[in-house]
Formats: sequence, C-alpha cells, structure tokens
Amino acid sequence: MNLNSTLTSMIDLSRKEDGTNDTAAFAKDVAAGLSLKQKDLPSRYFYDGKGSQLFQQIMNLPEYYLTRAEHEVFTTNKDAICSRFAGEGFFHLIDLGAGDALKTKILLRQLARQQADFDYVPVDISGDAMQQLTQSLQTELPEVNVQAVVGEYFKALQWLQKHKSERKVVLFLGSNIGNFEKQDSIEFLKSVRGYLSHGDRLLVGVDLKKNPDVILPAYNDAAGVTAEFNLNLLRRINRELGGEFILDQFRHYAMYNPLEGVMRSFLISLKEQQVYIGATGKTYHFAAWEAIHTENSHKYAVQEIEELGGLCGFGTEKVYFDKSKGFADVLFYVA
Ligand code: AVJ
Repeated sequence: MNLNSTLTSMIDLSRKEDGTNDTAAFAKDVAAGLSLKQKDLPSRYFYDGKGSQLFQQIMNLPEYYLTRAEHEVFTTNKDAICSRFAGEGFFHLIDLGAGDALKTKILLRQLARQQADFDYVPVDISGDAMQQLTQSLQTELPEVNVQAVVGEYFKALQWLQKHKSERKVVLFLGSNIGNFEKQDSIEFLKSVRGYLSHGDRLLVGVDLKKNPDVILPAYNDAAGVTAEFNLNLLRRINRELGGEFILDQFRHYAMYNPLEGVMRSFLISLKEQQVYIGATGKTYHFAAWEAIHTENSHKYAVQEIEELGGLCGFGTEKVYFDKSKGFADVLFYVA
C-alpha cells in the first residue's frame, strides 16, 4: 500500500453535547458517589495521563498475568483469528478501550501481512493514550489506516451507529468487560449488537475464574503500583476538582469474592476526616475505616461468558485460551 494513501485521524468526542464539559461531569459523578451511604467512585476516572501510565506499569507487573495471557492467546492464534476476520472484503476493526493496543498490534501486524482490507478504529477515554497510539502506529504500521476516537464507550456506540451498514469486527479485549456490573455488561453488549449486522464479529477477552491466590496479588502487587493507581483517583480529584484529599490518609484495599467471581478495589480512610472538594462546593465526611468502592473486575467461567453473549444476540464461533486456561478470548458471531 502506498504510504501517502495512509489516513490517520483523531476525533475527540469527549466533549458532551449538552454543553457541559468533562470537568463538570466528573464533579457531578464525584459528588454523587461520595454522597452515597456506601461511597463509590466510577473506575473510568482512573485514566488521566498519570493513571494511563500507571496502568501501563500494572500490565508489566509480574503479578498482573492478564496482559501476558492475552498476549499469548494472540501470538499463538493470530493466523486463525485474523483469517476469521478477513476474507469478506473491507471491514472496520474497532478496538474498545484500546489503551496502548500492545495486544491488538499482534493482530494488526498479522492482518497487514495478509494484506487484509481494513481500517483500525481504536476508542479510548484517554486522549493521551490515543495520541501515543496513533503516533506509534504511524511508525510501526504505516500501511494501516487509523481513525482514533477519544471518548467513553457510549461514544463508541455512536461511531458504530454512524457506520452501521459497513462490515465491522469489534474488539473488547483485556478483560475490559470485567469493569461492568453484570446488568451493565448485558446492556452494553446488546447495544453493540444493535449496531452490528450478520457477518460482523465481536472478540471479547475475559479473565477466567481461577485460584484466588493468583487473582488477588494481580490487584495488590508487591511493588504497590496498583495501590498508586487506585490512589491516583484522589490525586486527580485534587488536581481537576480542587479536592483536598491527603493521599496518605487513605489506603488501597483489594478483595476477591469467589461466590460472585468479582475482584473489588477500595480506598479506605485511615481515620475520621473531612475532605472539601472545591468543584462540588461540598465537604465529605469519612468515618475511621470507611471505604470508597472504586472498581470491580469480574472473572468468568467460559459457560458464563458464552451465556452472556447468547443473551445479547451473539453466538460463540470459537474460544481461544492461553496455555493455563486462565484467560479466554471469545469470538462471537452475530446470531
Ligand atoms: C483494564 C479493567 C482490565 O480490571 O484488570 C488493573 C484494570 N485495575 N488493576 C482490570 C485494573 C487494577 C483492569 N482492566
């Protein structure tokens, strides 16, 4: 392909249509979450510049097996996976929550090698991450057309809607689906399904239920990077919303519930304290040892993820595992 014909663009959809900006939405969500009887902050706010950088570090930790497992799945099965994508003419490869796209690049290189007719549409809430990804792809894979989208998943759905009639392969990798509550994952996959047509595909990367002794350290690493990542949410509130959190008066705490298959993360107040947050105009009270819930990471049984797909209008075409069978990438077709 001619280098000059390569298209690279970036659409920033992070601004809201209703005139409010990101900061206003962030302030609103923080005020609401900290006013609950059981305090709760949305995990999507982890990913400011610093947070995205910390997540990159997490992916390189010895304890965080997920990224390596999916990397192995793709390295081992790239031929098989990509030949199921390609072959029916042009398609958009949409990568929800692309981040640094390290794993997707395995597929991109394979597709480029096969001279597949496609463009790549990474979607992520981190503008920094999309900027870096767009740049790295220009040098590493100049033959691939890239159309990066900055925004929440909801914005990705709008993109899908706009391109409804074109063939699409949607990637939802790295156990990103794990952040959703069960009901939200159903609603989300159903909406994605609504914008797909027969012949389109969905590839979902899920972390599987396994020994809690393996899961827990992945969210409570020895070097304390995950703790930093969690606490960075308070740092972000301080910086962007004029918050007055003192970071060392909170600690990271992570626990796994094997009945539900859910890893949960919290920030726990070490003492009774009041915290003012300028942009919300309010002061929040924390009792000693009171927790803020900050994240869920759901673990699945293969049967559960297949059922979830089925419930949302997808059929299982093929399940790819890593060697240890601790992680799966499930290829769904539109049923
Ligand atoms: C990006 C949602 C897949 O839940 O494993 C990693 C985020 N949080 N360590 C996960 C995360 C703490 C991660 N996902």
